[in-house]
Amino acid sequence: MSKNICVIGIGYVGLLTAVGLADFGNYVVGIDIDSSKIKSLQSGKSPIFEPGIEEYLRKNLASNRLSFSVDVSKSIKDSQVIFIAVGTPSKENGEADLRYIIEVLDNIRILANEKKTIVIKSTVPIGTNRRLHEYLSKDCIYNHHIVSNPEFLREGKAVYDFFHPDRVVIGSNDEDSKEIMKDVYRSLNRINVPFVWCDWESSELIKYASNCFLALKIGYINQIASFSEIVGADVQVIAKAMGMDGRIGPKFLHAGPGYGGSCFPKDTRALSAMGKKVNAPISIIDALVKANEEQKVNIYNRLKKRLDNFNGKKVCILGLSFKAETDDIRESCAITIVNNLLKDNIDIQVHDPKAMLNFSKEFPNIIYADNEYEAIKNCDALLILTEWNEYRSLDLVRIKQIMRTAYIFDTRNVVDIGEMDRLGFSYDLIGKRTHL
Ligand code: UDX
Repeated sequence: MSKNICVIGIGYVGLLTAVGLADFGNYVVGIDIDSSKIKSLQSGKSPIFEPGIEEYLRKNLASNRLSFSVDVSKSIKDSQVIFIAVGTPSKENGEADLRYIIEVLDNIRILANEKKTIVIKSTVPIGTNRRLHEYLSKDCIYNHHIVSNPEFLREGKAVYDFFHPDRVVIGSNDEDSKEIMKDVYRSLNRINVPFVWCDWESSELIKYASNCFLALKIGYINQIASFSEIVGADVQVIAKAMGMDGRIGPKFLHAGPGYGGSCFPKDTRALSAMGKKVNAPISIIDALVKANEEQKVNIYNRLKKRLDNFNGKKVCILGLSFKAETDDIRESCAITIVNNLLKDNIDIQVHDPKAMLNFSKEFPNIIYADNEYEAIKNCDALLILTEWNEYRSLDLVRIKQIMRTAYIFDTRNVVDIGEMDRLGFSYDLIGKRTHL
């Protein structure tokens, strides 16, 4: 039957969890310390860009199954199930910082008026759920359930991913909490979504192992791309043929400027740190972290070499978000490139369909164009860093007329090569022959 749920921490994961669980028929309160975010959500406006989220937000607000509040005390008292989706940022040594989760548990210890099921949605180091259970059991009259329930949502596709998961992973140490979680996710049960029931540690490691493997696929194809450029092979043909092997699969084999986002960089560094800490180093991930940073710097060095050390040249960057369909710029390749261009005092003009506001908070002193053509005007290089659909259909005839030098560095292989050849562009690509 329906559960009274509160979701604490309304970031990307928390918002999708609150909206999705309400849509499953539960009564959900989303809690955050940011009152302006709560106000925006209560009015049916999402503080983040995520395709499709506002439709579900408004539908569930209207059904009175969903609300948002800053009152964590009332919500902890009223809820049977408490999802914790607060941030676990990286510390200097790469380990995850758990202080925000601990703050929530301390609130629960003081405020809980009955046994609660506490669901750790945040990505946490291996062993955390067990430690949290021990921490909460001390001086607490209720033996609260602790459940590990990692998420696998992709930004930009998070609504689809929430309602169509490949699997739901639940880590617990008792049967009662399993029954409660079956109730919470009964809608997915009904459509036979597979559930993986396991212990806490396995649940935590499934998240890191999955994310880091996906990142590994990307790091691998990016190095195959660099090799392809030297030997004259075509990385897209290679990736397509590789993906036809059922053991490999076609996804996450698109070579690019290096992965970014709030998860792959953080999770790879965290898994590497955890391995070293228990003297079981996962050196392949160390190599991946290094290779990914090198990939981003390689993009910059190739551009600098191509533009003959930039001497008075002007550069246009299209794409600031870490990938298409999101306004999120965390660990975006554009941050590495713009930092280096600013160090070299290069004139920059940029555009992104959604991420310019976020990017301007980090880089207020560069030129943000109203559209991609304004950004390109009078530039000597067009650097494409994010595969927005707008950039897949650029008017190359118009671009040829407005650029000072007709050169494109397409790090996402989204521009039609034949058209660039016909119009006399020089260009660099990823994993394909360059053309000068
Ligand atoms: C990732 C995982 O996919 C998701 O399961 C987890 O819950 C959170 O982290 P996300 O970071 O939102 O999701 O985006 P994703 O689509 O995985 O892309 C991550 C980065 O890899 C982006 O920078 C993207 O551009 C890059 N990427 C992805 C590639 O370079 N090539 C690919 O083939 C796929």
